[in-house]
Amino acid sequence: MANTKEITVKELNTQKFIEEKAREISALVGSGAAINALSGGVDSSAVTMLGHKALGDRLKTYFIDNGIMREGEPERIVSIFKKLGVRVEIVNAQDKFLSALKGVTDPEEKREAITQTFYKDVFAKLVKESDAKYLLQGTILTDIDETVAGIKRQHNVFEQLGIDPEEAFGYKIIEPLVRLRKDGVRKIAEATGLPESIYNRIPFPGPALAARVVGEVTREKIAVVRKATIIVEDILSSTRAFQYMAILHEDRVTGMRDGKRDFGLQIEVRSWDSIDARKATPTRLSYDILFKLSERITKEVPGVVSVTYNIATKPPSTIEVI
Ligand code: XMP
Repeated sequence: MANTKEITVKELNTQKFIEEKAREISALVGSGAAINALSGGVDSSAVTMLGHKALGDRLKTYFIDNGIMREGEPERIVSIFKKLGVRVEIVNAQDKFLSALKGVTDPEEKREAITQTFYKDVFAKLVKESDAKYLLQGTILTDIDETVAGIKRQHNVFEQLGIDPEEAFGYKIIEPLVRLRKDGVRKIAEATGLPESIYNRIPFPGPALAARVVGEVTREKIAVVRKATIIVEDILSSTRAFQYMAILHEDRVTGMRDGKRDFGLQIEVRSWDSIDARKATPTRLSYDILFKLSERITKEVPGVVSVTYNIATKPPSTIEVI
């Protein structure tokens, strides 16, 4: 089992860590090639930079467009990395993910559907087509803790689940960030030359907007939560909150639109203060901000008649809704 002893942010020497990890990756991959998927989050971005430092063009980086990303994400991320000299290829796999999610309502089954589609279908094909035997992945210590504790199965943790990726999917996994928590990863990301829009980016889950739709995930529901997400991120980006999000609920509620009854959609806004996502408390947003959120979401997102703000702490809540 890999060494998962925590390196705290206090202990972390960024340059030394980067050099060490680049050396480790080079030694493991040898003269071969590796492949990784970049989502644009701080973890996969840091791993892309470490892998690129170690392997240069022998690291093939793909951005898997799974259809459940935030607005404009693939193009934005590819252009940021292009400026850093890292070539990223976009793979359109929207239909595959959305059809795997069809009819699935249970949270863990959704994660499973995304995991299977990602690793077995889309990624395994890319690996087979390339000559890569290694996959670089941005698993961090919190992902492992929560999976081991049985709180949530993070979609990128295999070893702890007793799954052998080589047997199951045909490749070995390298996880350079596995001894760090989010604050440490941000330091590493900054030290590799990534811009602040990446290293200070709020966390975003692997299952993407599918983690923010209660019940079945459809293209239409993703479009709703995507629009609400733009507004929430726009209004709350100036707060110092750890993470904020829009969630689309399954239940419909009665509302009024243009003087008529409208059995409409409800969006829940969550904004969290936290250090490392293990515990979190709702941000004390001003009533003005809450009002702005509700006004813009009901005006700009078709079909939404109700906006709520979550006031429960983690635990017993979790940060995401599924
Ligand atoms: P929870 O919801 O477990 O989230 O309190 C803790 C932190 O992890 C993120 N998160 C995920 N990240 N795959 C990921 O890569 C997942 O399945 C996943 N679920 C939650 C969440 O956004 C928060 O920052």
